[in-house]
Amino acid sequence: MTNYEIALIPGDGIGVDVTDATLSVLNHAAGLYGFDLATTRFPWSCAWYLEHGSMMPRDGIDTLRGFDAIYLGAVGWPETVADAVSLHGLLLPIRKAFAQFANVRPHRLLDGVESPLRSDGFDILCIRENTEGEYSGAGGRVHQGTPDEVAVETSVFTRTGTERILRFAFEQARARRGHLTSVTKSNAQKYSMVFWDELTRELAGQYPDVTVSHMHIDAMAARMVMAPETLDVVVASNLFGDILTDLGAAIQGGLGYAASANICPDRTMPSMFEPVHGSAPDIAGQNIANPIAAIWSGAMMLDHLGESRAGAAVLAAIERTTARGIGTRPGGQSTDAITAAITSELE
Ligand code: IPM
Ligand code: MN
Repeated sequence: MTNYEIALIPGDGIGVDVTDATLSVLNHAAGLYGFDLATTRFPWSCAWYLEHGSMMPRDGIDTLRGFDAIYLGAVGWPETVADAVSLHGLLLPIRKAFAQFANVRPHRLLDGVESPLRSDGFDILCIRENTEGEYSGAGGRVHQGTPDEVAVETSVFTRTGTERILRFAFEQARARRGHLTSVTKSNAQKYSMVFWDELTRELAGQYPDVTVSHMHIDAMAARMVMAPETLDVVVASNLFGDILTDLGAAIQGGLGYAASANICPDRTMPSMFEPVHGSAPDIAGQNIANPIAAIWSGAMMLDHLGESRAGAAVLAAIERTTARGIGTRPGGQSTDAITAAITSELE
């Protein structure tokens, strides 16, 4: 029987709730489809930080390197550890260290879930650059606390980094409905974004079967509200993709439905799967978090591991569950009840 080694990092807040929910559904799917998930749990989190002074051990990245995949719940407990510390100590270093440069986020309206839009449905795949751009981490502050204070945070766009995310997005478009929308702001940002546009045009020559649109981020924000059904694959830089995918989550009914995969496409290092939502300290541990985004992310993990039948079955079970009106509105059912419903739909 195939055995997959999975590193589990539940993290903080509802990250723990939804990781437990996901694990129980995935283990059930493993039983049905004949494979095994061997999970190792790492308690790295803000609580761990308070004890150890760091978000993970010094050799944390090396520890994770040997796993087939990483599953992460959510990171952040700003009351005790500043977000800029916790996220730069755990989530962002993993994305960068394992070259998980493709952040894949599906935005689709599940059966039975209501969009705040008057929409008959849409099916968007957002591809967000995940290792550089506005999140490069290059910058600094000088003259702190004085009137002369300066803060600089530099966006970094490399040819390697830009080409590889665009190529990944073209491949996704080719495998779907053949349309790619590249999102920049090249009317205002004349170096990095013009560079991105140029590379998009260069690559488009190699994908004659994909039609390409160029849109500015502001116009794209409006389009996702006014006409999301016209979009197929959307590719954007790290920060633009971050913002658009919260918008994507909103139009698909909320953050409780938005799944995410941080993919290292050449598979030389582990990929990481996590819902788009955060740790939601206000509702943590109350058995009320919607686990659907997390479980959907788990389905993406199964698919990535090569268990695509099991991955598709989990997603189908989620959708049969929402079609029955379970997990479709806040306060409707508990985390456990939604998880149980998805599990029984898997049968
Ligand atoms: C996300 C989150 C993270 C990001 C934060 C928590 C650093 O918002 O995964 O979308 O900006 O990438
Ligand atoms: Mn985000």
